[in-house]
Amino acid sequence: MSSLRFALVAGPFSLLAVSAAAEVNELGYELGGVEFVTATPEQIEAGKSVYQESCAQCHGDTGDGKGTMADRVYPKPRDFIAGSYKIRHTFGGELPTDHDLYEAVRLGLPGTSMPAWEGLLSEDQIWQVVHYIKTFSEDFEHFPPEEQLVIGEPIPTSEESVERGRQVYGEMQCAKCHGEQGRGNGPSAAELKDEWNERTWPVDMMQPWTFRGGRAPGDVYRTFVTGLNGTPMPSYAPSVSSEDAWHLTNYVISVGREPVRDIVVRGVRVDAIPADPAAPEWAEAPMVDFKLSPQIIQKPRLFTLVNLDVSAKALYDGEEVAVQLIWDDRTENAGGDGLPSDAAAIQFPARPAEGGEKPYFLMGDDRHPVDYWRWSALMNTADNLLAHGANEVERKESGVNAQGAYDDGRYQVIFRRAMTTDHEQDVQFEPGAFLPIAFNVWDGANEEQGNRKAVTAWYYLLLEPETPRTVFAWPLVAIFLGLGAEALLLRRLRRAEPGPEPPLRQP
Ligand code: HEC
Ligand code: HEC
Repeated sequence: MSSLRFALVAGPFSLLAVSAAAEVNELGYELGGVEFVTATPEQIEAGKSVYQESCAQCHGDTGDGKGTMADRVYPKPRDFIAGSYKIRHTFGGELPTDHDLYEAVRLGLPGTSMPAWEGLLSEDQIWQVVHYIKTFSEDFEHFPPEEQLVIGEPIPTSEESVERGRQVYGEMQCAKCHGEQGRGNGPSAAELKDEWNERTWPVDMMQPWTFRGGRAPGDVYRTFVTGLNGTPMPSYAPSVSSEDAWHLTNYVISVGREPVRDIVVRGVRVDAIPADPAAPEWAEAPMVDFKLSPQIIQKPRLFTLVNLDVSAKALYDGEEVAVQLIWDDRTENAGGDGLPSDAAAIQFPARPAEGGEKPYFLMGDDRHPVDYWRWSALMNTADNLLAHGANEVERKESGVNAQGAYDDGRYQVIFRRAMTTDHEQDVQFEPGAFLPIAFNVWDGANEEQGNRKAVTAWYYLLLEPETPRTVFAWPLVAIFLGLGAEALLLRRLRRAEPGPEPPLRQP
């Protein structure tokens, strides 16, 4: 059961006990004792009220993970009776330390519905609720963890370290689950289940902001070493040395990037829009990452969001405008496999906004139709719809084209259309104007089709006039728009502001 301890016991004793507080095993891991935080009955009682107020709706009154909201979130809330925890400094299969639980509640589990409670609950309240959730499983009393991993000094990143990490990634066959480039699309990815018999997917390393246990070097190191209990993500403590685990950490971090959160996609003027997403013009266009949300308002709903982000960039050349959507999808479904086809769509208000009012974000409404451009992997072309809501759609012909390709866990699709048309119900593009834009994505492997899809809120597309970009900075937007319009716009933009990224767990 305890793989890290096995490595410790099997190690030559000459290497043990380098310091009084910690031991170093043969693979170089530093192991320390576990400090418990004792709780008074009053604290546990206080924790119960915190729990009922803030946690029970997901984790259930009895701690079984079956609260009223449990059916609506993915992954499912933790079952505290079973006592399997993902984020731990302790050995694979063991319970977490009190401090691990405190940190999980404080920082939440990024990429899931488990919120970060810091700022919402006081430090005292977090400790109280930690003491309370421990009462759901007697294991905390009978099998408390005895040892934990001490996260020492990271090996600073360097080309050599990243290269060694890449080798370890290969030797340990991480790609079987996580894919060659780490997008979570390895050959085993399509059939993984966790201990709770739920479908689970290897994490997409390109999106470290979705790591449950944090994305700082110490967090990533801890993940390989102790594994994620209850999931197919194993503990590598018995087979990888501490040094190699740091190289692997540096490699994983080198693969990922920070998200670019903005509310405006800035389209860049080029001489001619290239069809190839790898063309240098596309590299000039700044990319923005948008969080996807499951569509839970209209039937059929989506509760199991798998692809968490969609990214967009734009180009225009005077004649045409092009928007490129890029999103990671672990499986390619282009029809023919009995599953719906992967797809993506862009929507714009079909008519200029009256008084800045935007259409309903789910395909418009009676008074505010949307111009809807939809691409599917099955046809590899776009169709163009005029929608007055999800159930009020008619096909139209405005010359929208789209072409996409799937490569190693990622789609890139380029939509293009003439900047202006002479149809009344078509969106018209004009450099310098902020145009509302929103995105939809369907993942066939997750049985997404029709209303069962991932959506974004409204954002903006701005085809930047040919003024040098440094001059066209935010404060000048006010001058462009005139004061009245600006006040309105800023109020709307603020409302659409994306939330903060999850904080770093280990400094
Ligand atoms: C909106 C739903 C929701 C609420 C509210 C919520 N949780 Fe969670 N919680 C989750 C989900 C979902 C997970 C599992 C995520 C995963 O498995 O990746 C989770 C996991 C956890 C874990 C396990 C961490 C680990 O290492 O496995 C703890 C501890 C936890 N929650 C405590 C709490 C406490 C305490 C509260 C109230 C203060 C709370 N949660 C409120 C959804 C919620
Ligand atoms: C058998 C499949 C499998 C293998 C092999 C595997 N992983 Fe994972 N990994 C997963 C799954 C599944 C998850 C997501 C678990 C969850 O939260 O449900 C995951 C999660 C992760 C995470 C994110 C942790 C977090 O905080 O959310 C990292 C980083 C990671 N793996 C790295 C690796 C590396 C590096 C290797 C090779 C040394 C590896 N994995 C091998 C399946 C695997």
